[in-house]
Amino acid sequence: MADRFNTIAGWTLFSGVVALGLSSLSAHYFQAGKVEPVAEEEAEGPKKDEVPIEALLASADMAKGEASFKKCASCHTGDQGGADGLGPNLFAIMGKGMAGGSFAYSDALKGKGGSWDWASMNSWLISPSAFVPGTKMSFAGISDPQERANLMVYLNSKGSNLALPPVPEKKEGAAPEAAAVVGDAAKGQKSFAKCASCHTVTPGGAEGIGPNLAGIVGKGVAAGSFAYSDSLKGKGGTWDEATLNAWLESPGKFAAGNKMAFADMPDAQERANIIEYLKTAK
Ligand code: HEC
Ligand code: HEC
Repeated sequence: MADRFNTIAGWTLFSGVVALGLSSLSAHYFQAGKVEPVAEEEAEGPKKDEVPIEALLASADMAKGEASFKKCASCHTGDQGGADGLGPNLFAIMGKGMAGGSFAYSDALKGKGGSWDWASMNSWLISPSAFVPGTKMSFAGISDPQERANLMVYLNSKGSNLALPPVPEKKEGAAPEAAAVVGDAAKGQKSFAKCASCHTVTPGGAEGIGPNLAGIVGKGVAAGSFAYSDSLKGKGGTWDEATLNAWLESPGKFAAGNKMAFADMPDAQERANIIEYLKTAK
């Protein structure tokens, strides 16, 4: 349940990000004075649908679906035993065979075959005439995927009780993790102020509360003339980007019992900057 919730929350968040991206995209087009309809169409097109309908169904709002059904009510009844109008009665439509009622359906819909499941109903509601060319349901379609989801969940509550479809896992790479952190030596030099109370970096610089750090990148761990702790002396290996990164992220975790009294540095960018700066300290 928690997993499912997280996936749904992920998709909801993702759709928010997509929507944000799109609104800034259209804002961009407007600012640039390019108000061509093409740009808008592209912006509102398939990208919005990247949030799968399954995720939208999982968070659908039945009350909103009922309100949307007003768009259908001029032609359809939804209650059990409701009359056929301009269109067929829709009671228990989810899961039912297409054109499976007593209505005078078009040949197009009769010839379609299959039943009304989440996928086919979604396609139908996007555009009836695209899904069933020649249908006599003259309805433009509903472009908002969330509205379609709300409506389907409402239809499902009227005499049908199909299980909601599983929410697909979010594709890796859809929202990429932060790109590899690239250090900035100049910024690292500034951050080094945090270290300077204990460390010098110039070659031949004095040992202070901590060892001199000239040439530290590539040097053996605890390989200077400083009075290191047994913990750091026992560590072995050399200081490269990975070991320095781990050390600065948490000295206590990297070498438990070491004597560098320095808090963890959680900011990966700041660590990368400092390491970049230390590379210049030769
Ligand atoms: C202008 C009238 C009209 C409106 C508005 C309308 N429909 Fe229809 N609907 C029809 C007609 C006519 C058919 C029969 C289509 C055919 O036979 O090709 C139909 C068929 C259907 C079917 C297939 C029923 C079956 O038995 O296979 C579904 C599902 C459906 N409509 C849902 C909706 C929903 C949901 C809405 C609102 C979002 C809606 N319709 C709006 C007229 C309408
Ligand atoms: C409060 C003083 C203090 C501060 C602040 C401090 N250090 Fe240290 N540092 C030490 C001490 C003491 C040691 C030796 C640890 C041991 O032997 O366990 C050490 C060891 C090191 C070593 C290992 C040196 C070697 O020769 O193996 C590196 C690398 C290092 N510190 C980097 C930094 C950086 C970068 C900062 C700032 C982000 C920093 N330190 C902040 C006191 C400090």
